[in-house]
Amino acid sequence: MAGSGDKADPVVPLTWGVTVISIAVIVIISLLVAGAIWRRPGIAPQPAGSKIAVDEKTDGLRWIWIGVGISSLVLLFTVVWTMVVLAEVTSPATKPALTVEITGHQWWWQVRYLSNDPSQIFSTANEIHIPAGQPVLFKLVGADVIHSFWIPALGGKTDAIPGQTNETWLEAHTPGIYRGQCTEYCGLQHAKMGMLLITQTPRDFAAWRTHQLESPARPSNGGQWAGLANFTTHCGSCHAVRGTDAAGSLGPDLSHLMQRHTIAAGILPNDPADLDRWIADPQGIKPGALMPKPELSANERASIISYLKTLN
Ligand code: CUA
Repeated sequence: MAGSGDKADPVVPLTWGVTVISIAVIVIISLLVAGAIWRRPGIAPQPAGSKIAVDEKTDGLRWIWIGVGISSLVLLFTVVWTMVVLAEVTSPATKPALTVEITGHQWWWQVRYLSNDPSQIFSTANEIHIPAGQPVLFKLVGADVIHSFWIPALGGKTDAIPGQTNETWLEAHTPGIYRGQCTEYCGLQHAKMGMLLITQTPRDFAAWRTHQLESPARPSNGGQWAGLANFTTHCGSCHAVRGTDAAGSLGPDLSHLMQRHTIAAGILPNDPADLDRWIADPQGIKPGALMPKPELSANERASIISYLKTLN
């Protein structure tokens, strides 16, 4: 009965507590109603037109007050418990050391690591790395419609709304991989708008971050260079790779694509076969996705895959 982070910890017992209380209330009320129906005093049939004497026992009202009293106490208890938990999860115990801006797009997540030093800012997509054991501040924005950011194991959901920045925070106790999902209906591929939150030891996270800030290595053979040229021509107006002429910002930044576990917002494993399926026909996998089917020959596609495989 524990969550996986500071924000989830007090919420888990509250969830179970209120569930158990609610079930108990339903069971008790059902039994009382059933008992009342079963035990009603028999009234002998009277001839039509005759008067029935009213039984004016007055102690019946006592049970109404007892019932109202018990219900009010139970409600008051759950309200107070909820307020205490809300106060507890409003802000983290220590100041967040890291701020990540998450932008919900139809249908993927842009992840931007913010910093006062512009040289430390970079973007990635659909996979968020954070250090374990430290609260992280998330700034949430919607690029087109309202989306909602939710990592269930770590905390509640917060909407990502166009023209407004919402803030939330999360902390994870241990390194691990947590699945997240858009939880506000945002169009055709809402259900396929997943993400992964990867928590690492602070040392591993620092290494990951340093690596993300670097440009990926240059191609090392002719096939890969051809792939880079094809990528820049066909994909570069929507996707960016650090250190190349591909600098589009409509789709995910692919600078270190091979470091990701999944592609297409958490719906396909990141392996060459699925990458090929995705590039060959994005609309077949995510109908309505804003990535059009690229006009590529089989050779051009193969060269692009061979180039993408170098983006470590
Ligand atoms: Cu984005 Cu639902």
